[in-house]
Amino acid sequence: IEVFRKDYQPLPYKVDTIELDIQLEPRKTTITTQMTIISSSPTVTLDGDRSVIELQHVLLNGTLLQEGTDYQVTASELTLLQVPLHTPFQLTIQVTTIPEDNTELSGLYQDSSGMYCTQMEAMGFRRFTYMADRPDQMATFSKVRIEADKEQYPVLLSNGNLLEQGSCNDNNNRHYAIWQDPFPKPTYLFAMVAGNLGKIQDEYTTKSGRRVDLQIFAEPHQTHLLHYAMLSLKRAMQWDEDRYGLEYDLDLYNIVAVDSFNMGAMENKGLNVFNTAYVLADPATATDTDFERVESVIGHEYFHNWTGNRVTCRDWFQLTLKEGLTVFRDQEFSADMNSAAVNRIENVRALRGRQFAEDAGPMAHPIRPESYISMDNFYTATVYSKGAEVIRMYQTILGVEGFNQGLKLYLERHDGQAVTCDDFLQAMADANPDIDLTLFRRWYSTPGTPVVKYRGEWNEDGTYQLQLEQETSDGEPLHIPVAVGLLDQATGEEVVSTQVLNLKESQQTFTFSDLAGPVVPSILRTFSAPVKLVPLEKDNESLALAFLAAHDTDGFNRWEAVQRLYTSLIFQHLPSKEESSSSSWNYVEQAFARTLDTCLDNSDYSISAYVLTLPSESTLAEEMDMIDPIGLHQARSTVKQQLARRFESVLMEKYSALTELLSQTKELKFDATSIGLRRLRNVLLDYLCSLTDTPEERDRAAQLAMNHYQAATGMTDQMAGLSSLVSIDTPHRQDALDQFYQQAVGNSLVLNKWFTVQALANTPNSLETIQQLYQHPDFTLKNPNRVRALVGAFTMNAVAFHQPAGYQFLGDVLLAVDALNPQLSSRLASPLIQWRKYVTGKLMKEQLERLLAQPKLSDDLYEITDKL
Ligand code: ARG
Ligand code: ZN
Repeated sequence: IEVFRKDYQPLPYKVDTIELDIQLEPRKTTITTQMTIISSSPTVTLDGDRSVIELQHVLLNGTLLQEGTDYQVTASELTLLQVPLHTPFQLTIQVTTIPEDNTELSGLYQDSSGMYCTQMEAMGFRRFTYMADRPDQMATFSKVRIEADKEQYPVLLSNGNLLEQGSCNDNNNRHYAIWQDPFPKPTYLFAMVAGNLGKIQDEYTTKSGRRVDLQIFAEPHQTHLLHYAMLSLKRAMQWDEDRYGLEYDLDLYNIVAVDSFNMGAMENKGLNVFNTAYVLADPATATDTDFERVESVIGHEYFHNWTGNRVTCRDWFQLTLKEGLTVFRDQEFSADMNSAAVNRIENVRALRGRQFAEDAGPMAHPIRPESYISMDNFYTATVYSKGAEVIRMYQTILGVEGFNQGLKLYLERHDGQAVTCDDFLQAMADANPDIDLTLFRRWYSTPGTPVVKYRGEWNEDGTYQLQLEQETSDGEPLHIPVAVGLLDQATGEEVVSTQVLNLKESQQTFTFSDLAGPVVPSILRTFSAPVKLVPLEKDNESLALAFLAAHDTDGFNRWEAVQRLYTSLIFQHLPSKEESSSSSWNYVEQAFARTLDTCLDNSDYSISAYVLTLPSESTLAEEMDMIDPIGLHQARSTVKQQLARRFESVLMEKYSALTELLSQTKELKFDATSIGLRRLRNVLLDYLCSLTDTPEERDRAAQLAMNHYQAATGMTDQMAGLSSLVSIDTPHRQDALDQFYQQAVGNSLVLNKWFTVQALANTPNSLETIQQLYQHPDFTLKNPNRVRALVGAFTMNAVAFHQPAGYQFLGDVLLAVDALNPQLSSRLASPLIQWRKYVTGKLMKEQLERLLAQPKLSDDLYEITDKL
């Protein structure tokens, strides 16, 4: 059934307090819920999924109710037919469930390690017990009692504070814990965990003097991997106080690492549950990117405590209210902890690679969707990443100070409430009465990526006119903040520093005056809006880009200019394009040479690394009307090889210098400089290893990659060496893979890397390899990380995926996964739904049709395939 935003109705009753008693027993968990309800309607309907919970009995004020006369049960609801009006009553409901059989990983389930854990967002609570399972229903969970076997499940956790713990009187093998959460919360923020867990502990004192105990739990053999998460947590707590004055509000902060988890992590009040991939990290097992991700996800879930938990969403259509805002906050946190320019580049790369594609496909939706069949399908790049861009635009339009005032007002005004995106905008507007945000509201309802076109004109009277036009999906204008600076064409000096132009009409001209001579504009600095920027006149585009690549003071736009130059050069190498212009090559050559020459002279190693990196295939595909994935892959590889060949000696020289530089410090460091050095060196390695035309070249590349791999001091370099090696036809390849496998034994996350590196290998028979790995004893469909490591990576390998047998294979996998875990199958299917844009679209569509013909397709997968 499709649910519409416009149909929102408040509940006619309220659950005020709730007490839970959870008895965990093998293959039979009994959950008894006691609620105090007050209703203005004689009937009360609660959510509950009969396919996973079995109703035992219902009591109203202590009296047993009869099914049929007192209540009715359907597949998804329990309706009480006659409740007391306007006066509180007690409802007791008992259900049983088998978490061991819950393969969807929504509700209460058992992790691969044997621990019990929960994931309630968005609608998991109804798979746990009967309750009003919606975010605007906030109840106080005044008592949560968990009882389980003492030996198997020594650790029993839930939200809030631990009130009591002890052995059961009637059975000494069992024990219990009683938790209480003083803050009212919706069901999606409830969590409980029972398991045999180890932990690390620390503490943090807030600026107003609250001492908070911090505990992070994992399987006992993994606790040594938790220290970076703890450090990140303390940094996040400090940062939120410094930047926004926001403090933590309980005496305890618990985090649990879980290996089988559908998403990244979950912000349950006082008890975050994390996918192990986003919390475990040490130099021997995690890459620099993994470390960055741990820091940002730890930050993200912590920041939700205010933006999500203290102030939550009225209904699920408002998801971006908490997610867009919290992603923005975690991005700002990472920017402050590391390098702002580097973070901006990484975030924009991710946005373009994923969100732009979503906006261009059949699942395009505004950041606040209008309808859904399965809400889990809307935890999207649009709601999250574009949502964060919308928040960033508020900050760009209002200024940092104005934005902070608006956020403060929003949190004060709505503390303890479940609100809407309109409430957020209103708070921003009220805190900034001089700025009109009326038109800005349209970002919440407009799908698609807007296009901004520009044309500049220099006049002899010392003025420069910048004409901006916008195209949106509905033809109506949006409020787009366009950050612009001007550079003197003769000297390259910046003559007008960054200012924000508020583009509010379909076409608008902005005039700059008192200029000494002709200028070159640097437009959309720091990517001030989530749009595509294109010139109205293509004539001198490359010349202007080359100029910006050399002179722009905005690091982001310097990177961007070079990316645009690469893009046009790569497009000239597509099979469909006949001629290529030598000027494109010359511009790229110049920019590449300059970056390479100076890459060791400043400390922006990461920026240099990103400037030297070609745009990804998914980013490039975003700019094509009809995608020939193999042609695109080859065009990109050709340009990469041309650059490698042209600059081979300099690449080698810088590579060696970096090797030398890095070998000077014995201990592995994770500061921005060390990460940048490794990143840069690994980009150079990638170029050098792309030269494999002759047997001699192949040997040389294989040797280099093997040395890189063997001499690696940490996982980042190991993975770089290995991924170069796996794409080369050499006997070293299997040796290294076998060695890496041995190293991975016992560490699920490292094993995932072993699968991924092979799934991404650029070899002619990669599909066969992938299909063999699918049969490997270590492969399991039950662990989403493992499935993503192999199958998710496979769909990003153009050569393996974009062929009839590749599509067929994905279809097979989707059928198998869908029977177990619909959230996962639906996500894995997303590459197929873009079929319309592919030259091979017919074959992709056939797989979607095959799925649709299945009688038992999940709602999740149905919703996205049906858009065909
Ligand atoms: N709120 C979580 C986060 O972004 C994501 C949970 C999504 N879960 C889901 N089943 N859709 O931090
Ligand atoms: Zn979130």
